[in-house]
Amino acid sequence: MSQVFDVAVVVGSLRKESLNRKIANAFVQLAPASLKLEIVEIGDLPLYNEEHDSATPPASYTSFRERIRRADAVLFVTPEYNRSVPGVLKNAIDVGSRPYGKSAWNGKPCAVVSASPGAIGGFGANHHLRQSLVFLNMPVLQQPEAYLGGAGSFFDEAGQLSEKTQPFLQSIVDAFARWIEQNQPR
Ligand code: FNR
Repeated sequence: MSQVFDVAVVVGSLRKESLNRKIANAFVQLAPASLKLEIVEIGDLPLYNEEHDSATPPASYTSFRERIRRADAVLFVTPEYNRSVPGVLKNAIDVGSRPYGKSAWNGKPCAVVSASPGAIGGFGANHHLRQSLVFLNMPVLQQPEAYLGGAGSFFDEAGQLSEKTQPFLQSIVDAFARWIEQNQPR
């Protein structure tokens, strides 16, 4: 049997009715058989303070870091806040990146999807996040770019993804599956 890659999905919104979480859940359903996607929660991570790592770190830090370390790849699905990355997602990035020299993110292939009810589709957040991913040594899927504008109309009242949107989400997750295979450590 060929390998099934473990993909940690990190969502940059804590809102129950989050559009980005709905999109992340749609990716879980649309993923090809070569990927197993799981949302990894970030809402219980205390705000990063280096002092946390000078003694025993909070248990939530340790379990988050271990979960990301186990993953073969990471999918970020995020809103844009004030043309940048929501603080809660930046905090999770920072927590995973420490202690120094032991970043849980190192080398993992990833993809960034941003979504907004607005027209620009979270372009600012998407690219600010990419800046951190360069430093974290995470190869980021380049194409298709995923700035999902008008995301307020992607789901009907029953939470069903619209047929118009599905093919684009499918193309993203299929391209990501190929990217993950190409970027596994040899
Ligand atoms: C926003 N929103 C927003 N939208 C956008 O396209 N560009 C932006 O810069 C911002 N800035 C922003 C700041 C803050 C503090 C909030 C709370 C919201 C609107 C945002 O896209 C909208 O609330 C989304 O629905 C949030 O994503 P989730 O929670 O639905 O996934």
